Amino acid sequence: MSGLSNKRIILGITGGIAAYKGAEIVRRLQDQGAEVRVVMTAAATEFIRPLTLQALSGYQVHTDLLDAEAEAAMGHIELARWADLLLIAPATANFISTMVHGGADSLLSAVYLATSAKIAVAPAMNQAMWSHTASQQNIQALKGRETIIIEPDTGIQACGDIGPGRLQQPEIIVDQLKAIFESGLLAGKKVVITAGPTREAIDPVRYISNHSSGKMGYALAAALTEAGAKVVLISGPVLLDSPAGCELISVVSADAMLNASVAAVKDANIFISAAAVADYRAVDVADQKIKKQADNLSLELKKNPDIVSTIATDNPQLFVVGFAAETENIETFARDKLVRKKLHAIIANDVSRQDIGFNADDNEVSWIDAQSCKHLGKKSKSQLARDIVKLIAANYDG
Ligand code: CTP
Repeated sequence: MSGLSNKRIILGITGGIAAYKGAEIVRRLQDQGAEVRVVMTAAATEFIRPLTLQALSGYQVHTDLLDAEAEAAMGHIELARWADLLLIAPATANFISTMVHGGADSLLSAVYLATSAKIAVAPAMNQAMWSHTASQQNIQALKGRETIIIEPDTGIQACGDIGPGRLQQPEIIVDQLKAIFESGLLAGKKVVITAGPTREAIDPVRYISNHSSGKMGYALAAALTEAGAKVVLISGPVLLDSPAGCELISVVSADAMLNASVAAVKDANIFISAAAVADYRAVDVADQKIKKQADNLSLELKKNPDIVSTIATDNPQLFVVGFAAETENIETFARDKLVRKKLHAIIANDVSRQDIGFNADDNEVSWIDAQSCKHLGKKSKSQLARDIVKLIAANYDG
């Protein structure tokens, strides 16, 4: 699998002669497994018809900030939240200047301002315009905002000039984008992460479990792999594909998850406990299906081992991150778990909200450690996972 598989990319096309190459960029991004949506400026639609890009991307092309119908379907804020990466290609001198100054006079510039996705810009303009101090200063300003600049190609230009300023070739653009997701922040580190629910058997056909989908843990496993870590993902039963490059260990019960974790952390640097472990299991698991008899049935339960706290206590060299699923007093309860379970950091989740948390694609969490509490605003779980990985890398001291 490539570094772009399952990545959500907005291709923003602005109004230059190279706009027609947007069609090939869409194709090449899709070849790498990316999901692509196209946003065009009005000027770009003079160079290539939105219908072409709609046919290639398989989705309606977004062009208008003030189109009530389009905004109702997927408005600029949703687009901004949806994306893992915003690629502006070709980026005209004028659009680059708008980005630098924060103008929001088009859908594309509004999406740029509203997104926390990674940003890549592939400039395309006449060589004299590219070399102008104003353009170069604008490019430096964008670089200062961690924007990836895909340097233009050099050669004969549409206007007959020769020099730098041609849109970089689509295959080179795509190669540079792949590298963006492989950041190397945790290169050489081994990370063990638990994810998903556990199931505690009652009899051969019934079990106790919870609503965890595993999405947050799997997104973290993918982001950790992108960051260069060797990742062991210990997962309860979920309906997700294992992220590329992870070692997956599938388990069912809390006991099995604990045993797998104890074995996997022996030579690890970091342990992340994203699993929603069932707190209790049946004292006696029936060998045969329990038949329906009395009106009331009591089930005797006993506490499961606390996996994260066992691992943290027995492995003081590990950097340990937990999650706190709370419905009230979120920071207070999470901080209590941080201390009680001997964690270095805890990620607090409000599981009472329907739009985030269990099963949802988005989440909104707080990173809490001994010194601080950082609120990470609502975004897709994969974007959030990358933010969490950055915080882990910044706080891990090993
Ligand atoms: N956890 C664990 N083993 C358990 C229970 C929880 O490793 N048996 C971990 C979770 O993976 C998470 C953290 O502990 O990282 C907190 O889980 P949470 O469900 O929020 O808290 P609990 O300890 O279960 O406490 P409570 O149910 O009272 O909120």
